[in-house]
Amino acid sequence: MTVTKGAVNRVVVITGSTGGMGEGIARRLARDSMAVVISGRRTREGEQVARDIASTGARALFVRADMSSEPDCIGLIRSTIEHFGRLDVLVNNAAITPEEPPGEQSVELWDDVFAVNARGPFLCCREAIPHMRRQGGGRIINIGSTVPFRGGLERLAYGSSKGALLALTKSLARGLTPDRILVNWVAVGWVATPGELRLRDITNGDGRKFLEETAEQLPLGRLETVEEIAAGVSYLASEEAAHVTGCELNISGGLWMR
Ligand SMILES: NC(=O)c1ccc[n+]([C@@H]2O[C@H](COP(=O)([O-])OP(=O)(O)OC[C@H]3O[C@@H](n4cnc5c(N)ncnc54)[C@H](O)[C@@H]3O)[C@@H](O)[C@H]2O)c1
Repeated sequence: MTVTKGAVNRVVVITGSTGGMGEGIARRLARDSMAVVISGRRTREGEQVARDIASTGARALFVRADMSSEPDCIGLIRSTIEHFGRLDVLVNNAAITPEEPPGEQSVELWDDVFAVNARGPFLCCREAIPHMRRQGGGRIINIGSTVPFRGGLERLAYGSSKGALLALTKSLARGLTPDRILVNWVAVGWVATPGELRLRDITNGDGRKFLEETAEQLPLGRLETVEEIAAGVSYLASEEAAHVTGCELNISGGLWMR
């Protein structure tokens, strides 16, 4: 499904943007005059997000893509190029965040988490880089977490997969400077997205209450918002960040410091 209006300026793909933080990032980048490619597994929700964004006058396209599928990752970048003719920014946002009791981690869950959280971004980068190189530059922004730095046994696979994503960020950042492709990482602390609330409902009983109590313990006394994360992504995608690569932009309200 395609919705188009207005002239193409810069083009961004946001994985996992049919809801939650990915949707918020897409809305912000559309306000920054970028043409946005919404992607994810949920077609009805993704088409609705693309329609809503197009109704503001921005250009938007929904492409169904499951980040655990290599053909889908390839297809997402191909569809973007076919439709808009270019790709300037890739935001690797999609992730799954299951918790498991320490000592009971299964190989299946480990593989599932790595497929979406680490292999999917690798594949999207691999497909996007030749186009960015041809265009003379680009931006890759990986949505990370504080877990690889803080640790957490109950999220062993998740934290490890985000650690892999951080290493991918650093390696690509270092290797792609000659191509003017800047690669950065956003360390997110806690945001009350639908996904986080669902997870906390399952693991902590009442997700909203758990997050309210968590917020009180945080150094700045509250969770960060989707808009605050989206503002960080907007900066990393902007001309003002033309000299920023390999950075860890920490938007966690002091949850993690170093
Ligand atoms: N919410 C938080 O507190 C928090 C904290 C640290 C990091 N993060 C990171 O922020 C990002 C967004 O998280 P969120 O809170 O919006 O989570 P969420 O679960 O609400 O959203 C994740 C998105 O990824 C999509 N997704 C999941 N599996 C997919 C797959 N196989 N293919 C395509 N899309 C898939 C989901 O549909 C959803 O749109 C993630 O990378 C997450 O690790 C979030």
